[in-house]
Amino acid sequence: MAAQNGNSENNGEMVVTPWEVKGKVDYERLIREFGTQPLTPELLGKLETYTDKLHLQIERRIFFSHRDLDTVLNLYEQGKKFVLYTGRGPSGPVHIGHMVPWIFTRHLQEKFQTRLYFQITDDEKFIIDNNSTLAETRKWGYENALDLIALGFKPENTFIIYDVQDMDLLYDIALKVAKRITFSTARSTFGFQDSTNIGWVFWPAIQAVPCFIHKKLTGENVPALIPAAIDQDPYWRVTRDMAQKLGYYKPAQIHCRFLPGLGAGGKMSASMPETSIFTMDPPDVVKKKIWNAFTGGRGTAAEQRKLGADPSVCSIFQYYYYLFEQDSKALAERERRCRAGEMLCGECKRDIVEKLNKFLEEHRERREKAKDTIEEFHIKRK
Ligand code: TYM
Repeated sequence: MAAQNGNSENNGEMVVTPWEVKGKVDYERLIREFGTQPLTPELLGKLETYTDKLHLQIERRIFFSHRDLDTVLNLYEQGKKFVLYTGRGPSGPVHIGHMVPWIFTRHLQEKFQTRLYFQITDDEKFIIDNNSTLAETRKWGYENALDLIALGFKPENTFIIYDVQDMDLLYDIALKVAKRITFSTARSTFGFQDSTNIGWVFWPAIQAVPCFIHKKLTGENVPALIPAAIDQDPYWRVTRDMAQKLGYYKPAQIHCRFLPGLGAGGKMSASMPETSIFTMDPPDVVKKKIWNAFTGGRGTAAEQRKLGADPSVCSIFQYYYYLFEQDSKALAERERRCRAGEMLCGECKRDIVEKLNKFLEEHRERREKAKDTIEEFHIKRK
């Protein structure tokens, strides 16, 4: 597994870094190589006692791995609360892949009645993208926050941090963190090279700060639990190494898989807009993207009716699996009909276009309303 910054050339090799995901992702291998833990039935049993019922994303193992979730739940059992922390790098519009961990985070916020710190890294996206400006990343920060709020987060328990604007809150902790991470550790974790700008080298210290900010704001020392896709894990490795030296708990993580793009393999990525569904895509654009999607279908309808298709390689089936078919019996029936050749790709695509456009239309209405309340979520207004 290569860990590099910048775009790497690769020939099908798996690359999973915070900036790049390429090749076929082998999640079992990531657990081994990143040194994370699989979610065990025992741990999920404990989680279930606090959440009534396991969230679908857990049941379907979209969230599949963790660090210290057991510790956080044990502490919770003893009466020690925790906070949630996740974020977004505002390089452009939000796609539905970004929303996978946010939907789960909202579920945890509701079940545990706990605070969420949400970091919008307009500084990160400015530093790592040579073509971006601070004005653009700031604008996308605002736009992306609307998408977050539209998912139903509660303003009283949600603290959005816009890095550039709120740096005065973050800077002292960032310095303490930075002082304890050597260049050698950062280079081996993130693959920094001689040509990497020094802003990027300092950057991981800033993403670490919201793990610890609750103590500064309230005086309470509690652990942070971070729901995110596994691409963000390298940040937590360096943060966990020094957390206790600064008198904090090690931040805990729960990692999800990547919602794939609409092409053959690869995660949904904003850098490949034709294979991503953005929240602001109008219905005809959604329809066109779905119509061009890679499926597990056969060359001709006659062949497919006879031999059936393969949902395991189909990007559309993954959309039902991750987000758009909550009823597991209906999902299994869709899979059966697909494999048996009873349902062709056209029908399946038509259904998903309808579901997606309905979801996006409702999302956009809530997003519009979020413009009236967005200030209530800003950490500085609390
Ligand atoms: P960013 O903007 O790249 O991604 C935002 C969140 O979306 C997750 N993600 C996905 N999840 C499922 N399927 C996909 N196809 C997919 N693509 C992205 C990411 O894992 C992330 O959780 N540096 C961060 C911003 C950040 C952050 C954080 C993220 C700051 N603090 C704490 C998570 C937790 C970034 O650029 O994320």
